[in-house]
Amino acid sequence: MEELEEICLAALEQLPEGVVIINDKDRIVFINQKAAEIRRIQATERIGKPVLNCHPPESRERVQRALQFIKKNPDRPFVRIVHDKEKDLFYENAYACLQYGQNRSIGSVVISRDITEKRRLEKEIASRMKSLEENNQELTRRLESLFTSAMTSMANILEAKDPYTNGHSTRVSKISVKIAEQIVGISPELKEIELASELHDIGKVGVREEILNKRGPLNDEEREHMMRHPVIGGDINRKEPRNPVQS
Ligand SMILES: [Fe+2]
Repeated sequence: MEELEEICLAALEQLPEGVVIINDKDRIVFINQKAAEIRRIQATERIGKPVLNCHPPESRERVQRALQFIKKNPDRPFVRIVHDKEKDLFYENAYACLQYGQNRSIGSVVISRDITEKRRLEKEIASRMKSLEENNQELTRRLESLFTSAMTSMANILEAKDPYTNGHSTRVSKISVKIAEQIVGISPELKEIELASELHDIGKVGVREEILNKRGPLNDEEREHMMRHPVIGGDINRKEPRNPVQS
C-alpha cells in the first residue's frame, strides 16, 4: 500500500498538467509542481488553506460556482477556460468531484491544462479556412463572370448577324421571367432564368444557315428545326452536364 501511495504521489507530482486536490471543506490537500507554477504560489504554504485563496479576488466567485456545480452534479465534470493575462497563456481547468465508495463525496480535483498552443493552432486553421473560402468564392465569381461575358458576346454576334431578331433575346428574357415568377414565385432561380433566356439565341449555331438566313416565311419542317434553338442554347449554357436519362 505504501508503495502504491508513493507511486501515485510521484505520478501526480510529475504530471504535465496542474493538479490541485481539495477536501470536502474546500481546503487544499495537494498541489503539484505544475499547478503551483501556473498559479504562481508556493505549494507548501497553501496546504490546508481554503482553495479560493489561491485565486485572485475577481475569479473567486466563478471558482466557487464551479465547485458548487460539481458537488451537485458529481457525474459531470465542469470545465472553465482561464486566461493568464500576465503571461498571455490559456488554461483549461477541469473540476471533478472525488467520490469514495458509493455517492460519498470526499473532495474535488482541479486539473489545469495549458491549451495556448492548441488555441493558436485552432485560430490559425480557422483563419486559413476563411481565407480559402474567400478565395474560392472570388474564383467562382470570376469564372461565372467570364462565362457570362463569353456567352453574352456570342449571343450579341449572333443577334448582329440576324437583323430581324433585334431585341428578341431581351424580349424572350422578360417573358421567361414573368412565366417563371408564376411557377416558382420570387426565387434566386429567376436570376438564372433571366440570364439563360438572354443567352438562349446562342443555340442558333445549331440551326442550318439556309433556314437562319431565309427571306420570307418558314415551312413546317423549317419552323420545327428553328424552334430547337432554345433547347440547343440551353445545352450550351448548361453549367453541369445533362443527365443521361434526360437526353
Ligand atoms: Fe430566339
